[in-house]
Amino acid sequence: MKDFILLNKNTPVLNFEMDVDTAQIYKITKVVNPEHAPISVLDNKGFPDRIRLIDWWKSRAIPISRFGLRDALMLMNISSTEKLVLESHGLSLSDQYWIKEAGSELQWNEINFFDNDFSDDVGEALFGRKNSETLDLLSPCNTSDGWLRKKWKIVNGKRALVKAGSSSFYQEPLNELIATKILKASSFENFIEYHVISDSEGKPMSVCNNFVTCDTELITARAIFQSTKQRNEDSDKVHYVRCCEKLGIPSEVTEEFLSDMLTFDYLICNQDRHYNNFGMIRDVNTLQVLGHAPFFDNGSSLWYNVTTNFIKNDGPQKSYPFRKDHEEQIKLVTKSPKFAISGIDSIVESVMALSPYMEQNRIDKITSSLAKRFHDFY
Ligand SMILES: Nc1ncnc2c1ncn2[C@@H]1O[C@H](COP(=O)(O)OP(=O)(O)O)[C@@H](O)[C@H]1O
Ligand SMILES: [Mg+2]
Repeated sequence: MKDFILLNKNTPVLNFEMDVDTAQIYKITKVVNPEHAPISVLDNKGFPDRIRLIDWWKSRAIPISRFGLRDALMLMNISSTEKLVLESHGLSLSDQYWIKEAGSELQWNEINFFDNDFSDDVGEALFGRKNSETLDLLSPCNTSDGWLRKKWKIVNGKRALVKAGSSSFYQEPLNELIATKILKASSFENFIEYHVISDSEGKPMSVCNNFVTCDTELITARAIFQSTKQRNEDSDKVHYVRCCEKLGIPSEVTEEFLSDMLTFDYLICNQDRHYNNFGMIRDVNTLQVLGHAPFFDNGSSLWYNVTTNFIKNDGPQKSYPFRKDHEEQIKLVTKSPKFAISGIDSIVESVMALSPYMEQNRIDKITSSLAKRFHDFY
């Protein structure tokens, strides 16, 4: 058992004991600056809680559901995802939390991944490749969330997230670009832009820049949702609005954001807007919440996993996070007019034509279904 410190950028938050052989946290030994803790670690009285800290640490590791994870761990000769997190001090490119052994002189500016370069070894291993015998495991990829294969990469000095699609259509990266083009044509502005590149087999991959800076953090909607006890009479949506208000964002602002997000998700049939796929941005120095995070992860949409014959614009369409079906979920909000744009057909066709994995009849079916969905809505 060793004594460690959890820090938020330069601010020490708390000390804890960890079994370094298994990378499991045992208990909190000292609390220094609890207000700088990840909000999911704090109990309802604002005090760090052991079980919440253990859960937070576990949720920092790559999820077991990640494609290719077993092979990657074998390539890296690492026994668990938590041990991989420990290799890189728990550092991430979505926030500024990290850990070091008590007594260590290590400073955030020496090791953070926003300012310091990092090796591509872990990123490559996550894509099933190993380029040298000894690997450098200091990487922000060690703390990346989500089930699609992905890696952080330095492109022209900027930190970019490269994400693959899933078989057999590899459609998610194309959908990210289609969503970007629709959003660019709309009057909604708070989104991150995705581009598409191809791997050596011509499979599309999406690339987007980091929307977090060295002064901010992404707080997931999951952490926000759990930051206050839900009242019996409050629906999940009402509760979320209330939690955001408590964190400093007025309810009208959140209502408008949710109307925009749920309308957009309705239109593109997004099936995966769970509580880790939206959130808020907080300034890590002042702890002031700055606003809702830009739209990201729009790829699980446009019937990405539906066999071509079964694609249809109407009928039941799976949704998250407040209702299981889009027709029900859209009733919860004031429908946003911001996405009433023209030229949906040409956006879908031009993007999908980029991929050799998309057959023409599938492109036609998706194009007409999406155009119809927009048409019927507005
Ligand atoms: N552009 C970005 N900047 C900072 N963090 C990001 C960015 N995009 C994604 N993330 C973080 O990485 C996680 C995984 O990315 P995501 O696009 O959701 O992948 P997946 O499609 O596998 O769920 C997100 O939940 C979020 O925490
Ligand atoms: Mg995601």
